Amino acid sequence: MNQQDIANRLVEIGIALSEENDLGALLAKVVDHSLNFTNADAASLYVREGDELEFKFTRNLTLEKRSDSDATFTTFRLPIDSKSVSGYVALNKHTVLIPDVYDRNDSLPFSFDDSFDKRVNYHSRSMLVVPIIDNEGEVLGVLQLINHMRDGIAEAFPEELRRPVEALAGQVAIALRNVILVDKLALSQRETVYRLCRAAETRDNETGNHIIRISHFARKLAELRGESASYSELVFDASPMHDIGKIGIPDAVLLKPGRLNDTERQIMNTHAKLGYDMLAGSDSYLLEMGAKIAYTHHERWDGNGYPDQVKGLDIPLEGRITALVDVFDALSSPRVYKPAWPLEKVTGYCMEQRDSHFDGDLVDLMFDNLDDFLGIRDNFADSFEEEEHSILAPTISRPAD
Ligand code: C2E
Ligand code: SIN
Ligand code: SIN
Ligand code: SIN
Ligand code: FE
Ligand code: FE
Repeated sequence: MNQQDIANRLVEIGIALSEENDLGALLAKVVDHSLNFTNADAASLYVREGDELEFKFTRNLTLEKRSDSDATFTTFRLPIDSKSVSGYVALNKHTVLIPDVYDRNDSLPFSFDDSFDKRVNYHSRSMLVVPIIDNEGEVLGVLQLINHMRDGIAEAFPEELRRPVEALAGQVAIALRNVILVDKLALSQRETVYRLCRAAETRDNETGNHIIRISHFARKLAELRGESASYSELVFDASPMHDIGKIGIPDAVLLKPGRLNDTERQIMNTHAKLGYDMLAGSDSYLLEMGAKIAYTHHERWDGNGYPDQVKGLDIPLEGRITALVDVFDALSSPRVYKPAWPLEKVTGYCMEQRDSHFDGDLVDLMFDNLDDFLGIRDNFADSFEEEEHSILAPTISRPAD
């Protein structure tokens, strides 16, 4: 490749990487492009997490060709220090090029760890290891290339590859920075919303696990209906907001041990509109969907719900989904005004309300897959001991499992 070709390739790779907004997919793309660009046989990516490097993704073309090889890998962490080549590169922020890892005459402080080679019967020879540094000088990770191949033989990486690979690492830094920022933002938004909903929910529902179950039930129904993964995730994140308007309902009504009279009932019913008013009007898809769910989760399929007596398919899908899973869960759980119903009574009621309270297609999907829903119910049962469920699993998808 001449200089112009190299520059063109780097631009193409930069564009390809910038189009990726999923971290797992980005890491896989980086490794593939790096192998291709350098004729390396193997590449590994480490991403910095605090003061450590996390091994995130790897490919080894030779091992992939062996039928007996086990393609899975486990992630692990390394300290950022001089005891490993990747730690050293991250610590010192400069590239290391080693012509032969088993025949070293450099003064680098780490020794080669041959446990990988031994374990999988691979022969590492050359290495080119570059730091991934953003434009503020912060190390985001390390790219490790192993065995430069020419005519099927592993040889040293040519010195001329050093600068182009550093330029490649610069492109990786930009793409990685963007994805990490977006990811952090999504996670903190999800967590903020979730914590607020949980705090609100515990007024009339001691453990607050109701909203965790609602999330899981609602996503399951969306998936069973064949909705996209992004829609299903949005429903997962937004459905806990359905009752946020209960914050505005006085204790005397919300926590009344017996049945509500007409006046109290009217006050109670304002929780749908109150929730909508709290959430509507932002730029966030998540809050917008939360607003819509809060507003419509007590509409009924037959048009006899509240606040607007909207009917059938005019009720947004996320409202129809939340209506069903909310009642399913409310009936199964104890409330200040009623004990928990046994399962047969709950399922009987939901069946009977097919096409009157609920969207019948959704009821069918639920009962055709009842085991899934019962599994969720048992998994997140109310224990009445304060416990943190990790609904807030990171959105970062791992490249392989
Ligand atoms: P929630 O307790 O979360 O109940 C959500 C929905 O589940 C109810 O919406 C209703 O559709 C269904 N549901 C719950 N328990 C029963 C029941 O015993 N029988 C039947 N047939 N359906 C039930 P709804 O009715 O619009 O109520 C909204 C919220 O108003 C309830 O949320 C609860 O916070 C409050 N609420 C409703 N009825 C009473 C009551 O009699 N006493 C008190 N203190 N609060 C009530
Ligand atoms: C590889 O994953 O192919 C190389 C492993 C190593 O770091 O030694
Ligand atoms: C590392 O992956 O950074 C340690 C293994 C090696 O020195 O090749
Ligand atoms: C759909 O996603 O199926 C349409 C939304 C709706 O039915 O309200
Ligand atoms: Fe409600
Ligand atoms: Fe609810």
